[in-house]
Formats: sequence, structure tokens, C-alpha cells
Amino acid sequence: MMDTNDAWITERTGIKERRWFTPGVDTVANMAAKASMMAIQNAGIEKEHIDFIVFATITPDYYFPGSGVLLQRELGLGNIPALDIRNQCTGFVYALSVADQFIKTGIYQNVLVIGAEIQSSALDKSSEGRGMAVIFGDGAGAVVLKRSENAGRGIIDSKLYSDGKFAEELILKDPGSSRPKRKFDELALDMSDSKPYMNGNQVFKHAVQRFPEVTLEILEKNGFEKSDLDLLVPHQANLRITNYIKEQLGLPDSKVVSNIERYGNTTAASIPIALSEAFQEGRIKEGMLICFAAFGSGFTWGANLMRW
Ligand SMILES: CC(C)(COP(=O)(O)OP(=O)(O)OC[C@H]1O[C@@H](n2cnc3c(N)ncnc32)[C@H](O)[C@@H]1OP(=O)(O)O)[C@@H](O)C(=O)NCCC(=O)NCCS
Repeated sequence: MMDTNDAWITERTGIKERRWFTPGVDTVANMAAKASMMAIQNAGIEKEHIDFIVFATITPDYYFPGSGVLLQRELGLGNIPALDIRNQCTGFVYALSVADQFIKTGIYQNVLVIGAEIQSSALDKSSEGRGMAVIFGDGAGAVVLKRSENAGRGIIDSKLYSDGKFAEELILKDPGSSRPKRKFDELALDMSDSKPYMNGNQVFKHAVQRFPEVTLEILEKNGFEKSDLDLLVPHQANLRITNYIKEQLGLPDSKVVSNIERYGNTTAASIPIALSEAFQEGRIKEGMLICFAAFGSGFTWGANLMRW
């Protein structure tokens, strides 16, 4: 497809495999529905108990309506509210924090929080687009956030940030509502704004600073030391970024979840997929102190700290 090779991709990103959707079969909504049913079963509830959907994606099936309503339809749920979150690779961290507010205020009891993406359809698979095309993958992950009477468990805190100065460093411009509409033949000649663009070096530099910074901040703010952390589930941006965070925080491999080698960077889906795998592998035990941290386009970044 493009001028690249396995050695380059492995060295720069750590990625060995990715999943790409099957057109005509997979949709963001139906992938999300499968992940949601796994989460609902693990949570030991019926799907009818879900009273709010928070859906993080930058690749909705339609420009509008959002993916939350499509998931509500796909799961055959009642007329519960459905909210879409568009915060790119930080989407799941933002979504979890929104869900947490509704749980803490007692408005909802069981919130379905999803991160799902089909990115392969927009990637430029020519050599020109290789900087992005080798990194991003498709996938879906979900959690159920339940209200619990046990005050010691659940989300302890969330820290969310943005810096729009860097909006154009990782961007997909079209379809943008304020942009002049181009004629069909002009579009056919120049598709550049319809393909995602990333300034890889710039993203890398900021990511390696923000990830450790926000992780340390949320720990310190809540009275914890680095050594109190049982598990860090970072957004799977790039293996080099994850390794750098691990080094900066002085965490052993056993305390950091990494599965980018099998899925690539799945944007809002990467944290819930990594969490789901860690859970299935028995790495998560009741009472553990767990941190989710992410950085991405916007730039946006943030973290959630929770007691499992
Ligand atoms: C994208 C990224 C892997 C590129 O790595 P890099 O070391 O910055 O690479 P550069 O773009 O400087 O390119 C280095 C060389 O590799 C080449 N190259 C770039 N992409 C390539 C590819 N897919 N395959 C083969 N060669 C490639 C370049 O042409 C360049 O060659 P040259 O030295 O002969 O000019 C890296 O910048 C990165 O990981 N950035 C962060 C990306 C990220 O995590 N994004 C998600 C955030 S949520």
C-alpha cells in the first residue's frame, strides 16, 4: 500500500497488528453495542438498567446525529439520554468524568461509557499518509459506571485540560461547517483537507510532558504517592510514549497496561479496550488504585483516579 516497513513501525511505534473494520458489516454503533454488552454482563446488570449513555468518539457513523442515539437504538434501550463526547484521544477520560458527575449527584445509577472508533476509512493509505496510517486502528470498549453505597470505591477525581493553540497539529479539517464549500471537481483534485494530519514530533513532545504531569498531579492532589498506584491504564498512543511515562514515573511493567502492539492507537477506544483486557487477564482486583491518563488532539489531556 505504501512505502514503509515492519522494522520502522515497530521501532517508532511498537505496533505489530491493528484491526480495521469491514465496510458494510461493522459500524461504530454496532461495535460499541458488542463492547457494551460485554460491560453490562460483567457489571451483573440487565441492559434495561442503563439510564444514561456517554459516547466518546471522533469517528461517528454520521456527521449528525451522534453515536449515542445509534447505540441506544442498537441496544433497544428505552428513551434514555445519550450524549456524545468529542475529545479525541482524551475522549474516554472526559466521558468518564462526565458520567461520574451524574453518578455522584445521584441523577443516574448505571451509566454506560463507551469509546469507539472506525479510523481506517479516513486514513490516507498512500506513502504520503504513512505517518498516521501506520499508527491508528479501529476498535470499541465500554464500561458501566454504577452507583455504589460503598463510599471507598469508584472515581476519586478527574483532571481535564485543553490547549487550543495546538488545534491544527493533529486535525481533520473536513467536513468543517465554517469552511467555504468547494465544488465537486475541486474536491476531486485536492482531498488534503479530507485526510487527517498530524505533526508527529510536536504531538510526541507534548504527550511525553503532559502524561506524567497529569498523572502525578492527580495522585498528589488526592494525597497519594507514586508507589500507591496499583495500575496505570494510559491511552495507547505509541509504545515509546508509554515507555517514557513508565520511566518518568518509575513504574514497573506490571503496573502499566500496554496492548498497542495488537491494536495500534484506537483513540477514544484505547483505554476501555486496555482496561477490559487487563480485567480479563485477572490483573485488576477489588480495592486497587487505578489511574487512566490520556493526551491527544486539541491538544487535550487529562486523568481519572479510581478505587476499583
Ligand atoms: C509519528 C511518529 C511515529 C514519527 O516518528 P518520528 O521519529 O517523529 O519520524 P519523523 O516523522 O521525524 O520521520 C523520520 C524518518 O522516517 C520516515 N518515515 C516517516 N513515517 C514513516 C513510515 N510510516 N514508514 C517508514 N518511514 C517513515 C520519514 O520520512 C523520515 O525519514 P528521513 O529521516 O529520511 O527524512 C512520531 O512522531 C510519533 O510517535 N509521534 C506521536 C504520535 C502519536 O502518538 N500520536 C497520537 C497521539 S494521541
